Amino acid sequence: ITNKTNNSQKNRLIIVSNRLPIVLSKDNKGRWQAEQGSGGLITALAPVLKNRGGLWIGWPGTSRAHDKKALESVFTRAAGDFGYTFEPVFLPESLVNAYYFGFSNQVLWPLFHDLQTRCDFSPDYWNAYQKVNEIFARTIAQNIKSQDDHIWVHDYHLMGVGQALRKLHATAKIGYFLHIPFPPLDIFLKLPWRFQILESLLCYDMIGFQTQRDRRNFVQCVHAMLNHIRIKGRGQVLSTQVNGRMVRVGNFPISIDYNEFAKKAGTRAVEKRVDEIRAVFPSDHLILGVDRLDYSKGIPERLLAFRNALQRYPELEKKISMVQIVVPSRQRIPEYENLKHEIEQLISEINGTFTRPGWVPIHYLYQGVDRTELTALYRAADIALVTPLKDGMNLVAKEYCASNIHLDGVLILSEFAGASSQLYKHALLVNPHDIEGIADAINQACHMGLDERKKRMRALRKIVKKTDIYWWVDTFLKAVFSHDLDTLGPLED
Ligand code: ADP
Ligand code: G6P
Repeated sequence: ITNKTNNSQKNRLIIVSNRLPIVLSKDNKGRWQAEQGSGGLITALAPVLKNRGGLWIGWPGTSRAHDKKALESVFTRAAGDFGYTFEPVFLPESLVNAYYFGFSNQVLWPLFHDLQTRCDFSPDYWNAYQKVNEIFARTIAQNIKSQDDHIWVHDYHLMGVGQALRKLHATAKIGYFLHIPFPPLDIFLKLPWRFQILESLLCYDMIGFQTQRDRRNFVQCVHAMLNHIRIKGRGQVLSTQVNGRMVRVGNFPISIDYNEFAKKAGTRAVEKRVDEIRAVFPSDHLILGVDRLDYSKGIPERLLAFRNALQRYPELEKKISMVQIVVPSRQRIPEYENLKHEIEQLISEINGTFTRPGWVPIHYLYQGVDRTELTALYRAADIALVTPLKDGMNLVAKEYCASNIHLDGVLILSEFAGASSQLYKHALLVNPHDIEGIADAINQACHMGLDERKKRMRALRKIVKKTDIYWWVDTFLKAVFSHDLDTLGPLED
C-alpha cells in the first residue's frame, strides 16, 4: 500500500470528530485566528486528509461564533492552506460545558481509562451528550453528497452519532473508531447509560478499536449485556447481525506519518536545534517526557520514579537530566488544574533536593512546542519516558522512534499504552505504577551499550514505518467498505 493510492481513493472522505484540527480563538485585537489543535487524534488524521482531500466536520473550539462572516473567511483561507474543507459545528457554551467538559471528559474519559473514582455521573451531562450527537448527525446528513461518500466518525465524544444518523434515515455506510481504550466489563457496567452506549455503537457499520485488548473488552460487554447478539469470526475483523444489518468489529492500531517525522528529523533546522539542546544539557543522558496535561499519562508517577532513580543510583547524579513538556489541556476541569499543581510541586521538590551547582535535574515546560522543536527534542533525547497509566495508543512513543534517525535512543514504555501491543519486544516495558521498576529501567537504559540500543531502535522504527498512518487508514477503510472480509491482510497487533 502506498501513501497516495488505494482502492477507496475515489470516494470522498468525511472525517467527523469533536474537534476540528484548527481551533479558533481571538487575538488581542479581537480578530479571529486559527491555531493547530492538539492531541493524538489530530496528529494522526491531519496528514491523512491533507494527503487525499475531503471534508472535516467538527467543533471549532469556541462558542463565541456570532461573527459568522469573519469566520467563513478564516475557514476558506485554512481550506486553501490545508487542502481540504472544514464544516464547523457551533455549539452554545452551556452544551459545551455539559457535553465536552461534562459527559465526554468527566464520564467517558476517566471511566474508559479505568479511573471511575474521577467520574461525575450527572444526568444533565448525558442529556447534553445526546443533544450534541444529534446536532453532529444533522450536520453530517446535510453534507452527504453521495451514497459513495465514506463517513468516518471518531472517538468517545461521538458514540451516538451513528444512531442519530439512522434516525434521520441515512443509509450510507458509517465507520467509527474509538481512539481511547474500551474498558473491561466490570468497569463498563458502572456507567448508568451502559445499554444506550452499546446499542448506539452497534448502529455503525464498523466499530474500530486500537488493540485486541479493547476489542475483547467490547465483545465481552456485548455478550454479557445483550445476549441476543453474538459477535463471531477470526482475525482482524469480527462481525455480527443487528436488526438484519451486518456490523463489523475490528482492531487497528493508529499511527503517525512516519516519513514526515523521519524527514523532519534530518533537516538542518532540527540538526541545529539538536546541537543547541545538547549544549544546554551537558549531562550524559537526557530523558524526555512529552504529554498533554492529563491524569491518564502517569506524570507524577514518572517524576517519583526519576527521584527514586536519583536516590537509589547516586552515581547518576549530574549524569541524567529530564525535560518534561506538558501541553495545557481541558483546563476548566478541576482534576486537570489539580494535576498541574501536583506536577509543579513535585518538580520543585525534586529540584530543591537534588540540584547541584551547574546541574538542575528537571526542566519543565508548560506549553505546546512546534514541530521543529519537538523533533529536535526527540532526537536529542537519549531516553523517552512514556509511562501512561492507560492509553489508547500513545503517539509520542511512535514519534520518538520515527525521529530517532541515529538509532541510539531507548524507549521506556508503559505496558498499559496501546502502543505496547506493537512495540513490546524492543522497548523497555514498565508497569507505570511501579516506581522502583521505572527507576530500574532508567538505570538500565543509562547503561545500555550502543549495539543493543541500535538493535532495539532499528526494530522499533521498522514496526512504526510498516504500520504508519496511511497503512492504518487504508486498512480501516478497506475493512468498512469491502464486501469480502477474507481479503483483509493479517493483523500486526
Ligand atoms: P493524547 O492523544 O492523549 O494527547 P498521544 O500521545 O497519542 O496522546 O498524542 C499526543 C500528541 O500531542 C502527539 O502528537 C504529541 O506530539 C503532541 N504533543 C503532546 N505534548 C505536546 C507539546 N507540549 N507540544 C507539542 N505537541 C505535543
Ligand atoms: C485524545 C482524544 C482526542 C482529543 C485529544 C485532545 O487524543 O482521544 O479525541 O482530541 O485527546 O483532547 P481535547 O479535549 O483537547 O480535544
